[in-house]
Amino acid sequence: MGCKMPRPIEAIVHTGALAHNLARARAATPDARVFAVVKADAYGHGIERAFPGLQRADGFALLDLNEAERLRALDWRGPILLLEGCFSPRDLELCSRLKLWHVVHDTAQIDWLAAHKTQEPHRVFLKMNSGMNRLGFRPDAFRAAWARLNALPQVDEITLMTHFANADADADSRHGLAAQVATFRAATHDLPGERSLANSAATLRHAADAAVRADWVRAGILSYGSAPDFPAQDIHHWDLQPTMTLRSKLIATQDLQAGDAVGYGSTYVASGPLRIGIVACGYADGYPRHAGTGTPVLVEGVRSSTVGRVSMDMLAVDLTPVPGAGVGSEVTLWGHGPQREGRATVLPIDEVAQAAGTIGYELMCALARRVPVRSAD
Ligand SMILES: Cc1ncc(COP(=O)(O)O)c(C=O)c1O
Repeated sequence: MGCKMPRPIEAIVHTGALAHNLARARAATPDARVFAVVKADAYGHGIERAFPGLQRADGFALLDLNEAERLRALDWRGPILLLEGCFSPRDLELCSRLKLWHVVHDTAQIDWLAAHKTQEPHRVFLKMNSGMNRLGFRPDAFRAAWARLNALPQVDEITLMTHFANADADADSRHGLAAQVATFRAATHDLPGERSLANSAATLRHAADAAVRADWVRAGILSYGSAPDFPAQDIHHWDLQPTMTLRSKLIATQDLQAGDAVGYGSTYVASGPLRIGIVACGYADGYPRHAGTGTPVLVEGVRSSTVGRVSMDMLAVDLTPVPGAGVGSEVTLWGHGPQREGRATVLPIDEVAQAAGTIGYELMCALARRVPVRSAD
């Protein structure tokens, strides 16, 4: 019965970085309150792990009722907003019991509220579809929905809300953020109540506009150390810190000669002698298989890149920039690397995502269950 050595891969959730990033949202919008968006299990970080770093938020926004229960189990007594509201009339019972705020985006949700028996009226966020065409009442139906809600004894305060399709980029004038703000304002200017419009990109890029920052911002991806408008800007520009590190080790090395190929499909063929390292990390860990040759990686804190196709449990990296590396060398797939010559090393998740044709959000959320996770400062 020998003691089992674990596979060397692990993920680290950085509590201090979460707190730092949330403080950036606050600094950008000092007169607004900040929801930390923790849907999808805190963007793959785990609600319980992320909570200590985000607990200075004014509220939490999510959409899964189980996740709302988990937050209350952590003794969070402040606001929790259900971003998609109730999925069935029964959900209103939980809203009453756990004092959840909920989005109303559809007439059926108003019908359910009207039939709901509750001692305490609910705070609701009435959502407008101001151009994204996902959820919400169209501007011409918004006022009638507001009036219906306002007349219900089950409803306490009504916050007015919308969501931007293009806060991260300069879209054409018909679909851009300014057009959505104008639509929202035109339909709500004489309605009372607080407002909530901004996601991360709007919080960082448009906070100077009081109509955008409004009363509540909903900070998701920025809290997790990914630049919402990458590659136009990166985390250094926005002073954000990675909150998730995925790291592993070299478990083998290979010395290639010209003409030798690497991995499935032999998609990479060496043009001359090349030393590569084999990393214990593959797509079954959540590393994107679409990340082709050249995807950035840190080996012992030195920037290098992947070689060939990612397999289920392994990938290969070029060891040319780190000739001293060998079996056991630390490899950072994304996040914080080891100190190198007294300096911190970082590989933003956005760069890996870009190489795989996706965004940091998807990589965080896809971290596989088999990867052990621990928390660090
Ligand atoms: C309604 C709503 N608000 C806020 C957010 C947070 O967005 P981000 O992570 O870009 O800040 C989301 C995420 O998709 C959302 O659906």
